[in-house]
Amino acid sequence: MVSTHTTIGSFDFDNCLMNAAGVYCMTRDELAAIDHSEAGSFVTKTGTLEERAGNPQPRYADTKLGSINSMGLPNLGISYYLDYVTELQKQPDSKNHFLSLVGMSPEETHTILKMVEASEYQGLVELNLSCPNVPGKPQIAYDFETTNQILSEVFSYFTKPLGIKLPPYFDIVHFDQAAAIFNKYPLTFVNCINSIGNGLVIEDETVVIKPKMALEASVGITSNQQRWLMSMLFTNGLIHLFKLSEPAVSKQVAMLSSIFSVVPAWFKSGQLFIKKALKFSNALLKS
Ligand SMILES: Cc1cc2nc3c(=O)[nH]c(=O)nc-3n(C[C@H](O)[C@H](O)[C@H](O)COP(=O)(O)O)c2cc1C
Repeated sequence: MVSTHTTIGSFDFDNCLMNAAGVYCMTRDELAAIDHSEAGSFVTKTGTLEERAGNPQPRYADTKLGSINSMGLPNLGISYYLDYVTELQKQPDSKNHFLSLVGMSPEETHTILKMVEASEYQGLVELNLSCPNVPGKPQIAYDFETTNQILSEVFSYFTKPLGIKLPPYFDIVHFDQAAAIFNKYPLTFVNCINSIGNGLVIEDETVVIKPKMALEASVGITSNQQRWLMSMLFTNGLIHLFKLSEPAVSKQVAMLSSIFSVVPAWFKSGQLFIKKALKFSNALLKS
């Protein structure tokens, strides 16, 4: 008979269904609701050393193709989640859980992991190496040298079951480079994958969420990520510049620059963005 019973490291789960970090797991009430459900486990919201408010709202939107967010790791602080999973673990017949965490710097990550190491918690820990939404902070696992340094130090003191949460890699060489690092360490699991960063969803010529740096571009096109914002600002600069001076050229450039900005956009919103960009360009051509 088919079974969904799952084992990760030395931990058993009745089934393989659970939430993903950050999705319905911010408070004890939300975590308790998952715990009391048929789910095999839960993972907490990623806890940082201090509580965080996250990025300005709106920072989450459902879309036709899924969802887009620029949450920025809002959370109630690592102690909140560590205390809760430790408390649950003491209950008879407790499910096994995942404690997600990361510091805002390598030093903070070590401080947090040392807290967990010194605590009574004996469950699984998920080190989030992949949050794409913290202003000024790169996704850690895109920086192989830093990732290697962090893991090398972590495993000099951390003896509890540890896994990592990865960002999506898009180049086969990066797969190999990342694997070469991860294979050096006694990781209990590898979670693939975190959200794809630098997305953009436009509806009615307005972005559906605030950009993560709280900056907005003009002409109804904004980005939720700084790098996108830079390219879109450049694009919009061209549109304005040419629209004011050379209308005939501006229409071509506006369309081309919009399209070329679109091409590298990520999969989920790419289709929608192209549709919107073409609509926008057509409107410009007609004006
Ligand atoms: C609102 C929201 C908040 C998230 N917060 C976290 C988080 O705190 N830590 C984390 O590791 N991943 C976080 N994620 C990423 C998810 O855990 C998951 O990896 C991502 O959504 C990709 O899975 P999907 O394609 O099924 O959405 C978040 C995702 C969403 C939508």
